[in-house]
Amino acid sequence: MFDEERVRRDFPLLWRKVHAKPLVYLDNASTTQKPQAVIDAITNYYTHHNANIHRGVHQLSDESTQLWNQARAVVAGFFGAEEDELILTRNTTESMNGIAYGWADHNLTKGDVILVSYMDHHSNLVVWQEAAKRTGAKVVFVNLTAEGEVDLHDLKEKLAEGNVKLLTLTYVSNTLGSVCPLQEIITLVDEQAKKGKIKPRIVVDGAQAAGHLPVDFSRLGVDFFSASGHKMLGPMGSGLLLVRKEILESGEMRPYFFGGGMIAAVSVEGTEFSSSLSDRFTPGTPDVASAVGLEAACNYLSALGMEAVLEHDQDLVAYALEQLQQIPEVELVGPLSVGSGSQLRRIGSVAFLYKGVHAHDVAQVLDSEGVAVRSGHHCTMPLHVYNDWVATTRASFQVYNTREEIDALVSALDKVKRIFKV
Ligand SMILES: Cc1ncc(COP(=O)(O)O)c(C=O)c1O
Repeated sequence: MFDEERVRRDFPLLWRKVHAKPLVYLDNASTTQKPQAVIDAITNYYTHHNANIHRGVHQLSDESTQLWNQARAVVAGFFGAEEDELILTRNTTESMNGIAYGWADHNLTKGDVILVSYMDHHSNLVVWQEAAKRTGAKVVFVNLTAEGEVDLHDLKEKLAEGNVKLLTLTYVSNTLGSVCPLQEIITLVDEQAKKGKIKPRIVVDGAQAAGHLPVDFSRLGVDFFSASGHKMLGPMGSGLLLVRKEILESGEMRPYFFGGGMIAAVSVEGTEFSSSLSDRFTPGTPDVASAVGLEAACNYLSALGMEAVLEHDQDLVAYALEQLQQIPEVELVGPLSVGSGSQLRRIGSVAFLYKGVHAHDVAQVLDSEGVAVRSGHHCTMPLHVYNDWVATTRASFQVYNTREEIDALVSALDKVKRIFKV
């Protein structure tokens, strides 16, 4: 494991106080803080290299183009993808919309099924409800187990019913923390395909996985992978979509934003799109500074080592589960063990109900103690309704969090008990 105190020194925002108390930032599932290396990379870009890319013949444009290409290569490499498989976006939500408009609209039709699960984030849900309206497909929900994991028996049955053209899953739930057993699910899909069922395209919402565990797109066995750069130490406004090259090359997925920069030739009769895959899906002026910042975040995480990042994450989650279970008023949601290796069950966050106190009140009291957490439905309203929860409080972790900060969360929860006299 790495030295988290040394890591903390790289994140200037963590040095500040809130309400005259040291900041304990446990809202990382919403967005992470940024290391100095990311801030410097952006500043350096704007201070020395800013210019529009491509087509420019001047020196600055050339430098900016090289930085853009380099950032794309590093980000793709970080995720084990080819550069041509990477579409840089602003966030996971934009990536999901890209799949919906660029793939679903051209490949789904009346009667087709889009399988989602009750734990999915609205980003991986509302887009499919809308795509279903446009195409005539229908959205079907896979059940969860009592511990908040995808119910594989139910999934198998729903795959067997046929007509599933798209299976879209959250790799790591932002509310339950549960890790989706992707390999087992892919095996189920393959078994159904051998029995003559349609083989669905598989989408993975990797928003809470990226920057928490190693991702190798070339071996994951899925067709699409979305993530948010800003949730993995990168800048706000950075995100990504990975699409298997064959899907892009064959034209199965088509451009979904149009304009300059993505064309080979335009005439009054029509347009021929660029043969370069990265250009074809990047119309308009790209956000080079954010790409450069995301590159710096990938380099930062690579230097820590993603196996070590995962180990640290699991240590924090296991410790938080252990500590919070000792508070009688706290009811944890999601799996109660973290697992390991191919049986990894839980990472990233812990969410809970506090007996007799609304989650917003809990979060407000914690804030008064300098502890920043998130409360509400975390954009998983169907999951909350499924479980009959009004709202939950979530503490979520990143590389710079420590066991001492979890202790601070636990002692701040004492104040909740004192104030609300539960
Ligand atoms: C699992 C999951 N998917 C998608 C998103 C959406 O991410 P963004 O707001 O960066 O688009 C989030 C954000 O919290 C998330 O946790």
